[in-house]
Amino acid sequence: MTIKEIFNTMSYGPAPESSAEAQAWLATHPAGFGHFIDGTFTAPEALFESRNPATGAVLARVSQGSPASVDAAVAAARRAQPKWARLAPHKRAQYLYALARLVQKHARLLAVLESLDNGKPIRESRDIDLPLVARHFYYHAGLAQLAPAEQPGMEPLGVCGAIIPWNFPLLMLAWKVAPALAAGNTVVLKPAEYTPLTALLFAEISREAGLPKGVLNIVTGDGDTGAALVDHPGVDKIAFTGSTSVGKSIRRATAGSGKALTLELGGKSPYIVFDDADLDSAVEGLVDAIWFNGGQVCCAGSRLLVQEGVAERFHTKLKRRMDGLRIGDPLDKCIDVGAVVDPVQLATITRLVDASEGEKYTAATPMPSGCFYPPTLIIGLSAASPLMQEEIFGPVLVSMTFRTPAEAVELANNTRYGLAATVWTENVNLALDIAPKLRAGVVWINGTNMFDAAAGFGGVRESGFGREGGWEGLLAYLRPAGKPAALKPVRALPAPGSATVEGLDRTAKLFIGGKQARPDGGYSQAVYGPKGALLGHVGIGNRKDIRNAVEAAQAAKGWARASAHNRAQILFYIAENLSARADEFAARLTAQTGTSGRAEVDAAIARLFSYAAWADKFDGAVKSVPIRGVALAMNEPCGVIAALCPDESPLLGLVSVIAPAIAMGNTCVLVPSQPFPLSATDFYQVLETSDLPAGVVNIVTGPHADLAKPLAGHMDIDAVWSFSSSDVSQVIETESATNLKRTWVNHGRARDWMAPDSEGRSFLRQATEVKTVWVPYGE
Ligand code: NAI
Repeated sequence: MTIKEIFNTMSYGPAPESSAEAQAWLATHPAGFGHFIDGTFTAPEALFESRNPATGAVLARVSQGSPASVDAAVAAARRAQPKWARLAPHKRAQYLYALARLVQKHARLLAVLESLDNGKPIRESRDIDLPLVARHFYYHAGLAQLAPAEQPGMEPLGVCGAIIPWNFPLLMLAWKVAPALAAGNTVVLKPAEYTPLTALLFAEISREAGLPKGVLNIVTGDGDTGAALVDHPGVDKIAFTGSTSVGKSIRRATAGSGKALTLELGGKSPYIVFDDADLDSAVEGLVDAIWFNGGQVCCAGSRLLVQEGVAERFHTKLKRRMDGLRIGDPLDKCIDVGAVVDPVQLATITRLVDASEGEKYTAATPMPSGCFYPPTLIIGLSAASPLMQEEIFGPVLVSMTFRTPAEAVELANNTRYGLAATVWTENVNLALDIAPKLRAGVVWINGTNMFDAAAGFGGVRESGFGREGGWEGLLAYLRPAGKPAALKPVRALPAPGSATVEGLDRTAKLFIGGKQARPDGGYSQAVYGPKGALLGHVGIGNRKDIRNAVEAAQAAKGWARASAHNRAQILFYIAENLSARADEFAARLTAQTGTSGRAEVDAAIARLFSYAAWADKFDGAVKSVPIRGVALAMNEPCGVIAALCPDESPLLGLVSVIAPAIAMGNTCVLVPSQPFPLSATDFYQVLETSDLPAGVVNIVTGPHADLAKPLAGHMDIDAVWSFSSSDVSQVIETESATNLKRTWVNHGRARDWMAPDSEGRSFLRQATEVKTVWVPYGE
């Protein structure tokens, strides 16, 4: 026998990692685990079992957190927060650095415990999860050091509630805890009920690091415990990773509460293979995309789109590779695919696959008995079939073919999700042409499932909102410093006892798709000045008008492809045209509000100049990630932004909303100041003469309270902002859960529209989504 033959026929011997140390650690809590609150473990309460999914053996018993335990944890976090926030930046950085060092020191124990509890192969927990956890704490030690200087005028949110899933228990802990602490917040973390153990070990590690008591609190339990944390009035932010359905319920539960929220939810991420791709590498990438962690990955490349000409060859290569995957004991270092996290999840995968049509291929690899599912490929499904649309969260890949790049993009985007996408091609032009067209928060080119603390991660559409990692991730744990005053309702001036009757109709119409449009309902409202003069009428828009305006805004989305230079020019032009009519606008403001409008007009012109300047300067970033490549953080427009404009500054408020939105390439639907709408209906005449393409800005006048709901519930709107003095924040946040659009609402807080912080980066960030594009680069 030649050495080559021996190599080819030799099978792997088992190479088990010992679980002795992990078992010994578990044995130190014989009575079960309590919660970690205020630096100590509480007495165990209402214990439930955490099992090893590979064997079914009970690993430990942990406490089901009650509302009272959540309350105690939030109280401890609240007490600890002011002091933690006041620490010198380098002191906080030192704690995070200590956590990073200790994670490295205990890496082997943590990795084994993670594999025991979750069922993931030790190769993954040891070589991927743990190094990323340590890297996250190191990186955020750096952010803690730099944040106060680099983000002046910002302060921590307070107490952050973190709710995490079972697929990357410790890594998700790191993703939530590191930025929260770096920014000066304290944390109450609820791990997933299937996988609480590494979080409890981390609690001990945090004690070893000397983390002040109350800064990190951990309450174990199921969805009820999570819900109690979400509902707790003492929590300032919820950071959630998990299913889209729970994400939606958390959006509704926190609506109107003023709690900040970031949601990292599910996906059905496309994995696109063009016919010129290095097929062998693409197959290897696919192993990583869908069989990494048994496909229990939110950004798993679970939807293969392969170009028709190479589909058969690719599927053949893929099947051969699938047959070589080794499934079994997660602690065996030669294992590729471990156990499914829990029999419940196994039953879900089995049910979904069994109900599916299509040609199914199951890996011809020995299968252990128990909670395991074989690598599976399903070919020949239609784009609309449930498995093409729904997350399976298991080692199951569905595959479709496409003919042209345009079709690939169309199929890739044909999903309610938008988390990640992978593109394989040897043609750099093609890759870079496709990447911006994909509706996803992360795009990997000729690689997949790459993560780093410096690079933002997160989705669009029903994959949630917010980014984790990088400066963009840190900002989700900060807010502008100071306590804004309560916003007082601004009411329309009442009709005088005897209104002047005019023969001439001066009803300003709506502005939709570049044209003036009569309101669908056929009703209008009179606008009076402070001395009772009738200044004009405006249309009362309704749901149908909103639909028309959204359709126009959607049709105008090509605006995103206009160059930033072009958008800047148009903003300058709008400013110029407004300044040519400055006297008229000032007089109109004075007539409506009774106070001189001159300063407001001047400020509006200056603001337009500001965003003309920003249009080609709100740059993305190139992130230094520790791989052979770079991660480009591209600031992309959100899409269609709907906004209820400020009541109190009829012109400046409107401009403050329009200008950042269109500068960044969004189209918008605006409801202007309700009591003083005439400046907006005059302003669209300025827009009409400024070369702004039709449909980029649409204006529907009418009552904020009535229009908030159709705007926030509309499926084709990507973000809703409200600066209204009407109380609509709760309606908007509740209704936005339909498609998980981003919201930015004032919660009744006042804003000085003349102030410098009413323009600039905070607005531009709200007008953009960071798309992280990973590109091979350098050696
Ligand atoms: P899940 O979304 O129910 O659980 C995630 C976390 O949320 C857990 O800590 C859970 O206890 C908590 N939770 C559940 N209900 C809650 C509520 N009403 N309020 C607050 N917290 C609550 O996910 P589950 O049931 O474990 O998995 C179901 C499906 O979700 C999976 O099959 C998969 O499709 C998807 N999923 C997606 C993840 C992702 O990373 N995007 C992670 C885990 C699951």
